[in-house]
Amino acid sequence: MALKNAIDLSGRRILLTGAAGGIGAAIARACVALGARDLVLADNGPMDDLCDELAADGATVARHRCDVSQRRDNAELAAAAGDIDAAVACAGICPLEEDWADDPDWDQVFHRVMDVNVLGPLHLAREMIPRMADRGGGQIVLIGSIGGRMGGTSPIVQPHYIASKGGVHAVIWWLAQRAAPRGVLVNGVAPGPVATAMTATTDYPKDRYPLGRIGRPEEIAWPVAFLCSPAASYFSGSILDVNGGLFVG
Ligand SMILES: NC(=O)c1ccc[n+]([C@@H]2O[C@H](COP(=O)([O-])OP(=O)(O)OC[C@H]3O[C@@H](n4cnc5c(N)ncnc54)[C@H](O)[C@@H]3O)[C@@H](O)[C@H]2O)c1
Repeated sequence: MALKNAIDLSGRRILLTGAAGGIGAAIARACVALGARDLVLADNGPMDDLCDELAADGATVARHRCDVSQRRDNAELAAAAGDIDAAVACAGICPLEEDWADDPDWDQVFHRVMDVNVLGPLHLAREMIPRMADRGGGQIVLIGSIGGRMGGTSPIVQPHYIASKGGVHAVIWWLAQRAAPRGVLVNGVAPGPVATAMTATTDYPKDRYPLGRIGRPEEIAWPVAFLCSPAASYFSGSILDVNGGLFVG
């Protein structure tokens, strides 16, 4: 018997934080391209153009302004979102301007980065896992980074971001072990450098990259969408390295 295409998001309701960003918007577009017609998009920035574009492509989009670092915002988001099949925690920050050695305010920035990048996904998972378990299962994807694998690829990336993304990877493993017995699959994607607003001021010399370039947002979005699909039904605690061969291990 011929296999049915399982990388198909038809009928799935997908929640995504950081939707206004470069990778987040690409994930939303990939989900719609794979058949999703029901999206819940969250960000602390504007996303009207993206919502209009997705609606024109046939999707129903609910949008929420929220700060992912706030427990209450995540609780309100989850309550408003209703039944969710797959949730993606993509919101993140990577402040570049502070100097960890000399800036007296650097520690405050460290705490903010950890609040957004690590506590944010934990807040979302805390809301999502029981709701998904009650419905018989679900899928959660967290966005890590090559920085959490190898300490960063640019000298200007600060240790708060590196620590946060290493923390995200550990959190994926921690959550996966607890959620899988309840039918909820928690996985991650660890991108290498990708051309978005986050990297716009960073120089990435081509000769350092096995493919001669950094990644495009959609090259991260497709693997994330796959992890939201029935084709990923045996993935739990996996972190897909998507970096064009920059880190292998
Ligand atoms: N671009 C890269 O090279 C790269 C590499 C590895 C990992 N990542 C990760 O991918 C994810 C997306 O990054 P991107 O490159 O699309 O960056 P981006 O700056 O384009 O998008 C990040 C989005 O997160 C939102 N956001 C930030 N703080 C928030 C908060 N407190 N509450 C709600 N929303 C918030 C921003 O408004 C923005 O829309 C991040 O987690 C980032 O760490 C990016």
